Amino acid sequence: TDAITILGLESSCDDTAAAVVRQQDGDLPAILSSVVFGQTGLHDAYGGVVPEIAARAHAEKLDHCVRQALAEAALELDALDAIAVTAGPGLIGGVLAGVMCAKGLAAATGLPLVGVNHLAGHALTPRLTDGLAYPYLMLLVSGGHCQFLIARGAGDFTRLGGTIDDAPGEAFDKTARLLGLPQPGGPSVETEARGGDPARFAFPRPLIDRDDCNLSFSGLKTALLRARDAIIAEKGGLTRADRADLCAGFQAAVAEVLAAKTARALALYLDEAPAEPALAVAGGVAANGTIRAALETLCADLGVRFVAPPLALCTDNAAMIAYAGLERFRAGARDGMDLAARPRWPL
Ligand code: KG4
Ligand code: ZN
Repeated sequence: TDAITILGLESSCDDTAAAVVRQQDGDLPAILSSVVFGQTGLHDAYGGVVPEIAARAHAEKLDHCVRQALAEAALELDALDAIAVTAGPGLIGGVLAGVMCAKGLAAATGLPLVGVNHLAGHALTPRLTDGLAYPYLMLLVSGGHCQFLIARGAGDFTRLGGTIDDAPGEAFDKTARLLGLPQPGGPSVETEARGGDPARFAFPRPLIDRDDCNLSFSGLKTALLRARDAIIAEKGGLTRADRADLCAGFQAAVAEVLAAKTARALALYLDEAPAEPALAVAGGVAANGTIRAALETLCADLGVRFVAPPLALCTDNAAMIAYAGLERFRAGARDGMDLAARPRWPL
């Protein structure tokens, strides 16, 4: 039997995470533990993640996080085969904290080190949860990312397109801020949109007619701001119904643009005649019911399998890093003590 057990570390944004994943060759991997410490409260006063504060919190929590992940897996360090760590892209202070922690563990135990691209972690999640076969189409939609990838192997991705400005989650968060709704904005905008009229405001569908897989969300944000200010100028404030209509209109625009661009990406992907065609999503925005329904319909029409991993594995976590590390490790990848932390690292 050829089981591999890997500890994964993640600290590239505002979550400190550690996880243990084990896979018997040929079987679905098992997540033995997955610990995530968020930092939401820490950055509340600043309207965004503050890199210095994030880095310090990661450095303080990583050790404890690792201990807890091992304890929950009921394993000691010597039961591991390797240590995987997010080596980028992300906020450099946080990435460095994770890489240094992993190097310390590797030096102390003699275990091999495997650096993992955070985006590859997201992109391989449907293999961790559902054992998807390569090649599959991946849509990453979060507060920080928005791109279409064809995943062909652990280090083999073709980027078909992505946002040219903001990520959709950022636009949801901004919309919530403009309307006085709580953060994170995605869930509050989705709730507020219930019962709203998506057709009352004619929000733009940026780049929808362009024959590529690129997206843009910054214009949508501006359109929402203008619509809000026009109502306020006219009536002195927003009613509950105004807010619902603004949210519904904004959400419908995002969903329609994402669906249209996903249709283009699917066409390119299906051109390659994959044996088991599948579309997988990851990222917090994939939790949105309207967006998810639009993508599901698209896939059903084309006979493409639709895979949405559980939300806890779609958002930042270390199980995805451990698993991506495991695939690379199985393929022979090893990093040395010179493993670099990279703020930018395209797939
Ligand atoms: O993947 P994630 O947890 O973190 C990164 O961005 O890395 O994604 C968080 C983003 C936030 O912008 C949040 O507003 C958005 O995902 N989000 C949603 C929903 N739930 C979370 N956006 C739309 N609808 C939702 N239900
Ligand atoms: Zn992420």
